[in-house]
Amino acid sequence: MYGIMFEDINHSGDGGIYAELIQNRAFQGSTEFPSTLAPWEAVGNAKLSLQNNTVPLSSALPTSVNVAQGAGSKAGGVIGLQNPGWWGISVKPQTYKGSFWALGSYKGQFTAKLQSATTSHVWASVDIKSECHQGKWVEHKFQLNAQVAAPDTNNTFVLEFHTGQGSVNFNLISLFPPTYRDRPNGNRPDLMNGLKGLKPSYFRIPGGNNIEGDTFNYRWKWNETIGPLTQRPGRPGTWGYENTDGLGLIEYLQWCEDLEVEPVLAVWSGVYLNGYNNANPDVIPEADIGIYVQDALNELEFIMGDVSTEYGALRASLGYPKPWKINYVEIGNEDNLSDPTSYTSYRFRAFYDAIHAAYPDIKLISSTGDLTAISGHSGTDYHEYARPNIYAAQFGLFDNANRSHPILLGEYATIQANKADPSTPVDWSGAEPRLQYPIWIGAVGEAIYTLGAERNGDIVIGASYAPGFQNLNNFQWGPDLVSFNADPDHVAFSTSYHAIQLLSSHRYTHTAPMTSDSGFGPAFYVAGVNSGTTEYTFKAAIYNTTVPVPFNIDFEGLKQGAKAKLTVLNAPSGLSYNVAGGPNVVKETVTELAAKKGGVFSFELKEYDIAVLTTI
Ligand code: AHR
Repeated sequence: MYGIMFEDINHSGDGGIYAELIQNRAFQGSTEFPSTLAPWEAVGNAKLSLQNNTVPLSSALPTSVNVAQGAGSKAGGVIGLQNPGWWGISVKPQTYKGSFWALGSYKGQFTAKLQSATTSHVWASVDIKSECHQGKWVEHKFQLNAQVAAPDTNNTFVLEFHTGQGSVNFNLISLFPPTYRDRPNGNRPDLMNGLKGLKPSYFRIPGGNNIEGDTFNYRWKWNETIGPLTQRPGRPGTWGYENTDGLGLIEYLQWCEDLEVEPVLAVWSGVYLNGYNNANPDVIPEADIGIYVQDALNELEFIMGDVSTEYGALRASLGYPKPWKINYVEIGNEDNLSDPTSYTSYRFRAFYDAIHAAYPDIKLISSTGDLTAISGHSGTDYHEYARPNIYAAQFGLFDNANRSHPILLGEYATIQANKADPSTPVDWSGAEPRLQYPIWIGAVGEAIYTLGAERNGDIVIGASYAPGFQNLNNFQWGPDLVSFNADPDHVAFSTSYHAIQLLSSHRYTHTAPMTSDSGFGPAFYVAGVNSGTTEYTFKAAIYNTTVPVPFNIDFEGLKQGAKAKLTVLNAPSGLSYNVAGGPNVVKETVTELAAKKGGVFSFELKEYDIAVLTTI
């Protein structure tokens, strides 16, 4: 039921979970976001300029930085460039792996350093013998070993060389700290551990809006996110910044392996964001849609094909002979059925028919946002951003859903607080600010919504909060599940995170039928059982009550003296939230219960409790 949705938004990828420390490492740019030197700065009397050399590093990375001696400088000095990272660099006593490509005829030593931006104290330094050859790009690799932790993240990466032998061009200047499971080109361990802690079962990738692209030719192109980093051009993401695509298709699949989760792979469905919902040429016309359908088939062959296939062989040539398995494919993101350019009239149908014919076992998911509309065409992905009251009122939303096609709750989150009128919808005009962080009453509302989904687990196949990550230094969307900055010791795992963690950590194979002498509200609950056993789970969330709610639960087959563990989460107030570096406001209470006469477990829950009772 519980999974993760990921797209590069809020610098969740570049500058986020993707562990690359250097911001703008390869001067990637586009018409939308032209190549820039920022945030690089000159060191010594250097003069930095962007150049598109006649000998580029690669056609994917044509732009490099030229580092030359500035006017009036003395011979024999040191010049270079420095980078502040993604709003800081965390320095710990550990080994950092770096590399850069250089073009020039320089024959001396380069020096790479991590140093304090405030005091210039050097935390780690290494000399690297130049292997430069005139007219040829040469890769240089190095390691930086920091012995102590820097007191803050206000540190820079510096790359220097001696003057007197002409200028040097640099490109793809990269530095990685240790990554999760030591993956090369890998992810931040702190954030990956956070995801692992959620005990997720699926990973919806890549997006969100970010798969779609803003305008023609800016979609997420799987084949430009694979292979060596020198071959990845990057693209303008839909959230206001260029994506490096260092975090590409293979990295996403490795991420699934590392977290042991099922990929839900989104494929592009033939619409750019600025073509959405109007008659705009940025929707691919029916006559041309076959090109993109074939591209999706190529992507699936790349992932799943054996090495005798064209794209399976391509995967093997990149060092991955063993195929991955895809069981779920989502066609597009938020493609409204009422779109006049018509998802259903040809785009959805074209992708569905082709993928279903080639891979009949893959479950195909439409992105209609409509729970009822496409019966007979596999599943649908329903997104909802709401207020706590709205979620709490939707416990029964799926009770009468069409049983012929599954529902994925691919995105949900409480984004604004309650209003006096509980039916007040979300304000998308921008007039009402978003919540900065997920608040506890929001987590309770969301829990009621997903308990309603659990209760309908025959048809609701998964639920994922969105967005997953937020770099607090630069973000486009709040609130988010996990907020962070450059400091791994200052991650905010939100109130919603803790609620999802509790619910996700307690799985069962089947919902258990139950009878009750009271209806739902203020207590909302679901019971589950592991098939063929008396291992029961009972989950509840309590919303809007001034008095505690008594529970007396009699599980079939359990007798007096049977044991159960009751875990309850709550926070000081419904408006409590977690901040980066602050204490966790969500308090957990664990109690062991023994069944009384008749096998009844008795306990009380109070307002805004989220509780799980498991028999032991
Ligand atoms: O999660 C943020 C955005 O919300 C997603 O990109 C999009 O699918 C939805 O509109």
